[in-house]
Amino acid sequence: MDIKKVGILGCGLMGSGIAQVAATAGFDVTVLEQEQKFLDKGFAGIEKSLTRMAERGPAKGGLTPEQKAEAQSHLKGTTNMQDLADCDIVIEAIIENVEQKRKTYAQLDGMVKKEAIFATNTSSISVTELMTATRRPERFIGLHFFNPVPMMKLVEVVKTIATAADVYETAVAFGTKLGKVPVRTSDKTGFIVNRLLVPYLLDAIRAYEEGVGSITDIDEAMKLGCGYPMGPFTLLDFVGLDTTYYITQVMFDEFKEPRFASPPLLKRLVLAGWYGRKSGKGFYDYADPGKPAPGRFV
Ligand code: CAA
Ligand code: NAD
Repeated sequence: MDIKKVGILGCGLMGSGIAQVAATAGFDVTVLEQEQKFLDKGFAGIEKSLTRMAERGPAKGGLTPEQKAEAQSHLKGTTNMQDLADCDIVIEAIIENVEQKRKTYAQLDGMVKKEAIFATNTSSISVTELMTATRRPERFIGLHFFNPVPMMKLVEVVKTIATAADVYETAVAFGTKLGKVPVRTSDKTGFIVNRLLVPYLLDAIRAYEEGVGSITDIDEAMKLGCGYPMGPFTLLDFVGLDTTYYITQVMFDEFKEPRFASPPLLKRLVLAGWYGRKSGKGFYDYADPGKPAPGRFV
């Protein structure tokens, strides 16, 4: 099937990035949020990112001013789910909560044309568990993008035992049209990257709790010792501590292994509403964005 119209559910960290990438690739994009203020925030993030890419220019993998304007012309926001009715694919990037996602899919299923593909950007929830909230199991897949979506080349394309072969190939081809490198995987919790990345991030918190090093020393050590672009605490604040915590609940429930259990410190930061960059404070305090101040929790 030919994909022309893209619907996005959620305009947060990931939904806004996916919308930006799809619009830049020339697709007509409609982004749905629960309230106008969340749309405004997401679209402001898109504008900032497109501006950075236009400043960088095509020679350094960025955009021309005309390409930026063209991308913006393909973007539309709404708070009315009916506006997604004629989309060819709907990519969901709402809160990492299975009940919320299932409820939303059930509503969506009755409103969007039956031939549309549904794609979840979930980090950890079973795609099969989300699929069963709809009457289109053959047209339901995972499209797992990485943060920040405009910069990260990977997209994990996840099939379930019910995914139709032609739908799966359409999704892989769509990932390529977005300028991403699609990697094929199946519906195993955490897919490929998070199965390996989440225990690493949680172990960094446990190492800190045990006094192995300070937040900045552990970050510096992994950047300089392993060549990572961000240390684990910087990355945790970037991903969002709320999202990370939700992911640990799903992965521990699936595997019942200590390496997926949330360290007590992560839970307390989330209970306190310290979600990282998105809330201004997490493992670092972003009061001065140019100079994030590391917290001292132990
Ligand atoms: N939009 C547009 N441009 C961006 C950008 C964005 N969101 N972020 C960075 N850039 C640009 C910057 O403008 C800069 O270009 P200029 O110097 O010309 O301005 C260039 O990219 C480099 O950016 P920075 O100088 O800020 O820093 P950097 O070189 O470290 O690159 C980064 C930023 C690409 C985010 C890099 O730090 C990185 O790759 N970090 C690791 C991210 C990661 O691990 N993501 C996976 C998270 S896990 C996940 O996503 C799965 C899940 O389910 C949780
Ligand atoms: P976020 O909190 O930044 O954004 C979630 C957005 O969903 C919010 O703006 C919220 O208003 C909106 N929302 C919630 N319920 C909604 C509904 N019923 N209808 C419409 N909008 C609704 O979260 P995020 O980091 O963008 O994560 C979104 C999804 O992407 C999660 O499933 C997460 O696991 C996954 N993911 C996150 C990352 C990351 O690094 N943060 C990376 C890959 C995948």
